[in-house]
Amino acid sequence: MGKTEELYVKEAFDSNWIAPLGPNVQHFENSIEDYIGNNVHAACLSSGTGAIHLALELLGVGHGDEVLCQSFTFSASANPITYLGASPIFIDSEEDTWNLCPVLLEKAIENRIKKGKKPKAIVAVHLYGMPYKVDEINAISRKYDIPVVEDSAEALGSTYKGFQCGSLGEIGILSFNGNKIITTSGGGALLAKSEEIKRRAVFLATQARDNAPHYQHSHIGYNYRMSNVLAGIGRGQMEVLDDRVAARRNNFDFYRKNLSEVPGIRFLEEPRGTRSNRWLTCILTPSYKIRESIRLALGNENIESRPLWKPMHLQPVFKDAISFTNGISEALFEKGLCLPSGSNLEQMDLERICNVIKKELV
Ligand SMILES: Cc1ncc(COP(=O)(O)O)c(C=O)c1O
Repeated sequence: MGKTEELYVKEAFDSNWIAPLGPNVQHFENSIEDYIGNNVHAACLSSGTGAIHLALELLGVGHGDEVLCQSFTFSASANPITYLGASPIFIDSEEDTWNLCPVLLEKAIENRIKKGKKPKAIVAVHLYGMPYKVDEINAISRKYDIPVVEDSAEALGSTYKGFQCGSLGEIGILSFNGNKIITTSGGGALLAKSEEIKRRAVFLATQARDNAPHYQHSHIGYNYRMSNVLAGIGRGQMEVLDDRVAARRNNFDFYRKNLSEVPGIRFLEEPRGTRSNRWLTCILTPSYKIRESIRLALGNENIESRPLWKPMHLQPVFKDAISFTNGISEALFEKGLCLPSGSNLEQMDLERICNVIKKELV
């Protein structure tokens, strides 16, 4: 936490706005809109998962539809597709950003159109904070008229050609889960291109109440709005977001500088025009065996590290889903490791981590 979160939470208590609406929600939304720019309209919600669910519903995804989704991601990118009775079609990654491969994406679209099933939406993810190939993905989206849900859950503070992530798809989403670059303990936001789409998102997020003095409903709604208490935390967190990005980027720079001499260790570089928030620093090792030896050596020193995300097309729960693969995400899962990346790591901590890795490999 920064210095002001408690103050804004206290404001909520002092003014008795303990509800899923109130001044903190308004302030938090305004500060997200100011930060992201590009004319987005932010609706604060109870989670990033809820934001993806609403985004897909607002784009007309429904029962029996197909939605294209990056395979190399956390399950929350894909789960909401199934909440709507639609089916995910998983698409593998490319090597430059580890995100959605434009070549495979187009191949999948052509294949599904030939089968008479034009996909309804594309879920593209800026994984680990690294922006995906926005120009290429948006060109495909325009060519086939299939909208992009921009999963920016891990990428608040990352930019693509000077534009903030979250503002680059048809609808963007953010997460403020406890492990994200800033947090409200749990929470998320939907980033819309118009006030009208935001209004519809908030309508669905607050049980879809019609405009009447009594409780009347013509739509199925959800209870997805963010609480004014948690929005107070978010309001304070926005004031330290740039510091958090700087801290995460420092972690990455330290690891890269100190591990560059270790044979076989590779880092994901920023393609020209992109700036990652470096939410997590990830390394690629030469093999599964070496990855595991590093992970276990760190574990023996009470240092937590984790394999990269297991692709969705390999998950038991999605075993029947159609996928278009090229082996890249499987190799990343096999050989990749997320290193400790907290914003509060000190040089001493980073040195200790690097020493364990070096001892294991050099
Ligand atoms: C890529 C990605 N998408 C979606 C989510 C879902 O966000 P939340 O945890 O706020 O529901 C997360 C994080 O949890 C995520 O990492």
